[in-house]
Amino acid sequence: MHGTGGNERDLVPLGHDLDPDASLLSPRGKVLEHGMPRFFRRLSEGVFDLEDLKTRTHELADFVIAAADHYKIDNRKIVAVGYSNGANIAASILLLRPETLSAAVLFRAMVPLVPKTTPSLNSKRIWIGSGAHDPIIPASSTKELVELLRSAGADVTIRFFQVGHELTANDIDLAREWLRDFN
Ligand code: MLT
Repeated sequence: MHGTGGNERDLVPLGHDLDPDASLLSPRGKVLEHGMPRFFRRLSEGVFDLEDLKTRTHELADFVIAAADHYKIDNRKIVAVGYSNGANIAASILLLRPETLSAAVLFRAMVPLVPKTTPSLNSKRIWIGSGAHDPIIPASSTKELVELLRSAGADVTIRFFQVGHELTANDIDLAREWLRDFN
């Protein structure tokens, strides 16, 4: 899932790079912010419209399940890959619809919402890449997400890079290695 202002084509090369054998499903965020696609509405930077976020999370989870069925993709091996806004909705799917995913690779993610009941993420593996100098998603927000996911039982690997919000080759290399061990 792409970041704010991106589209469904952005991360397809990244998907191939992470796992050349994987089937890729790349949706476009359905919300527009001044013409820029996103996966859910926000009130300001880092302040989310929680009702819209919940609705969009369920809508996207339903879409993934229906698409996996349609394309005959093994629904026990679905890995979400997201950057920024796309990573945040992937985290939201983990928290609200954990059955949708078996693993996730989240580049520059924060806590999207705190669910009323803690989900069971016992069998989930999650890799998170954080920019130590990210002005949009401070490392502290990413650490809160790690704590939330771990408290729900997930196996979380967190890597900090001495960069900002941008995605780097280092992120991709380490995520690819992690995914290879997972497969
Ligand atoms: C969000 O809105 O999901 C985060 O602030 C990241 C972004 O700017 O897209």
